Amino acid sequence: MNGKPLVYLDSAATAQKPTVVLKALSDYYLKQNANIHRGVYRLSQESTVAFEKARVVVQQFIGARYAHEIVFTAGTTASINLVASSFGKKFVNKGDELLVSEMEHHSNILPWQVLCQERGAVLKVIPLKDKGELDKGELDLEAFKKLLGPKTKLLALTQVSNTLGTVNPVTEMIALAHAAGAAVLIDGAQAVPHMKVNVVAMDCDFYCFSGHKLYGPTGIGVLYGKEKWLKELPPYQVGGGTIKTVRFSGTEYAELPLKFEAGTPHIEGGIGLGVAIDYLNSVGLDLAGAYEQELLRYATEKLSAIGGLRIIGAAAYKAAVISFVVDGLHALDIGTILDQQGIAVRTGHHCTQPLMERFGISGTVRASFAFYNTFEEVDKLVDGVIKALKMLRS
Ligand code: ALA
Repeated sequence: MNGKPLVYLDSAATAQKPTVVLKALSDYYLKQNANIHRGVYRLSQESTVAFEKARVVVQQFIGARYAHEIVFTAGTTASINLVASSFGKKFVNKGDELLVSEMEHHSNILPWQVLCQERGAVLKVIPLKDKGELDKGELDLEAFKKLLGPKTKLLALTQVSNTLGTVNPVTEMIALAHAAGAAVLIDGAQAVPHMKVNVVAMDCDFYCFSGHKLYGPTGIGVLYGKEKWLKELPPYQVGGGTIKTVRFSGTEYAELPLKFEAGTPHIEGGIGLGVAIDYLNSVGLDLAGAYEQELLRYATEKLSAIGGLRIIGAAAYKAAVISFVVDGLHALDIGTILDQQGIAVRTGHHCTQPLMERFGISGTVRASFAFYNTFEEVDKLVDGVIKALKMLRS
């Protein structure tokens, strides 16, 4: 990249894909391509089996009870929109309250904001604690408890902050929300690539993530929903594939999960995601996560030693994401000079503008790690930042 070996430190935006995933995609088109759930001919049946096998791989990956609790969507954003629309239509009324946190990605704010506007409900925000010097980027659990009440219908919370790396105590927060009678949706987009998730142990009602951050293809994502919710919720989009019988006098919808999968799905995306999960399982998610923690520790130590550089987000539990600002310099300028050295990082507000406002900054430089990154690459990042600061300060 720009005449240098690429140092890819933007896996929180999208991960690089293993060859087995790419091969699964091309194999699908070369050898299997046929629509699913529709044909009696062998090719269609083979495609159906491959797609449904991927659903089981996802189910086992997140510890869901049933494969039909796994709905394939276009990604985390699509999954959240599905729940906001469907749950909202059925359960959210005027005066109800929905809770999100101050560290949410815009995709876990806007669908709820729109829903509240449509239904006359109120969106409340769980703040971070310790504003100022002591701010580690952790949620204020006492404030959360006070926000919960009989009007709370749903808590929508990220498990891991894409900007700060903070790992939220979701299991504890889910139990508190349930005790108040609220349902809980967890945005797991930044969690599943780094740590083992078990939706039954966690006891969330809905869990969402994207394939492309999990070493799979883009355009495919997952919505897990507890069977009892998915049965009760109305379909989000309707059309081919979602029905049992259609008459002009009325329509009967299909069983789960097809009720939520209108139109031809992203067949090769689902298959590719299944292969990506198999691959990650063979690497070992625990091993990968532990190694990423080492990279995070090393990068934190090295970057902290640079004068004028401030790391944003110092939670006790962090995923391998490190955001920083440098006094007097713009994140975009630092990112541009890093790019000239072949180092890919994300710069800007990371789709978390309310969080930026809270920290009084317009953006950060963010390096995010995957298990394929190396200590040597962290050294290159640190050298690159030092070089960028010299250039920008001269
Ligand atoms: N949500 C992705 C990120 O944090 C795109 O970069």
